[in-house]
Amino acid sequence: MKDKVVLITGSSQGIGKAIAAKFASLGANVALNDIPSQEENLKQAKQDLAQYGTKVEYFLADVSNLESCQKMAEDIKAAFGKIDVLVNNAGITKDRTLMKMTPEEWEKVIAVNLTGAFNVTKSILPSLIETQGAIVSLSSVVGQAGNFGQTNYSASKAGVIGLTKSLSKEVGRFGVRVNAVAPGFIETPMTAVLPEEMKGVIKKFTAMGRFGQPEEIANAIAFLASDQASFITGAVLNIDGGLSI
Ligand SMILES: NC(=O)c1ccc[n+]([C@@H]2O[C@H](COP(=O)([O-])OP(=O)(O)OC[C@H]3O[C@@H](n4cnc5c(N)ncnc54)[C@H](O)[C@@H]3O)[C@@H](O)[C@H]2O)c1
Repeated sequence: MKDKVVLITGSSQGIGKAIAAKFASLGANVALNDIPSQEENLKQAKQDLAQYGTKVEYFLADVSNLESCQKMAEDIKAAFGKIDVLVNNAGITKDRTLMKMTPEEWEKVIAVNLTGAFNVTKSILPSLIETQGAIVSLSSVVGQAGNFGQTNYSASKAGVIGLTKSLSKEVGRFGVRVNAVAPGFIETPMTAVLPEEMKGVIKKFTAMGRFGQPEEIANAIAFLASDQASFITGAVLNIDGGLSI
């Protein structure tokens, strides 16, 4: 990863921040991204990553807005000169049963999680073709198995799998690889809000008997983005402690 340039969306906290730290620790230059309300966390993340001695900058952009993604792509090219790896990590939940879900709750989750991956990928892909780079996107086990109260979220994460597989067929001839990871339940601010009782049930159904750590997702993403995975494309790697068995 030495001297590679990596963009991780939604990287001010949680799994995204852990991915950024992993790439920086491997010698990569890192473009952080998040929405403006996360700017303080982005500044903190930039400071925390300074220990690895690589270049780190942050770029404010809402992934659900194509124009801001295109501007971000230009700004990253201007700051770093190239882009080798894109990690589509930005994501949100708005959980409610479909009977009670509002059209806004449906649309917002699809807009960030699925259209967001489209917007960023469309904006960055020309750069990745130049570098024969790689994309890794965050799906989820619930994109395969579904989950009570998450029709919007699981539809968005199933969509990420379709996007990954189709795009891998389109860009393999350019030497660009496209993969996804499907995490189980990982300890981050996103899952901190789950009721304790539900956390207990999830652990019971997870072979490893625990939630995962963000670093355990970051390790696999770094592998998939690296030359070690040079013949892996269109794959979805479950990283769930055995939850989906
Ligand atoms: N935590 C889990 O158990 C789990 C499991 C499976 C998949 N995932 C996926 O992993 C990814 C990271 O999740 P996390 O647990 O670290 O969540 P998180 O809420 O801690 O982090 C998500 C980040 O995305 C950012 N974000 C939200 N909307 C954005 C937008 N429009 N533009 C740019 N950035 C935006 C948030 O501000 C936040 O910093 C998400 O895609 C999530 O769906 C998480």
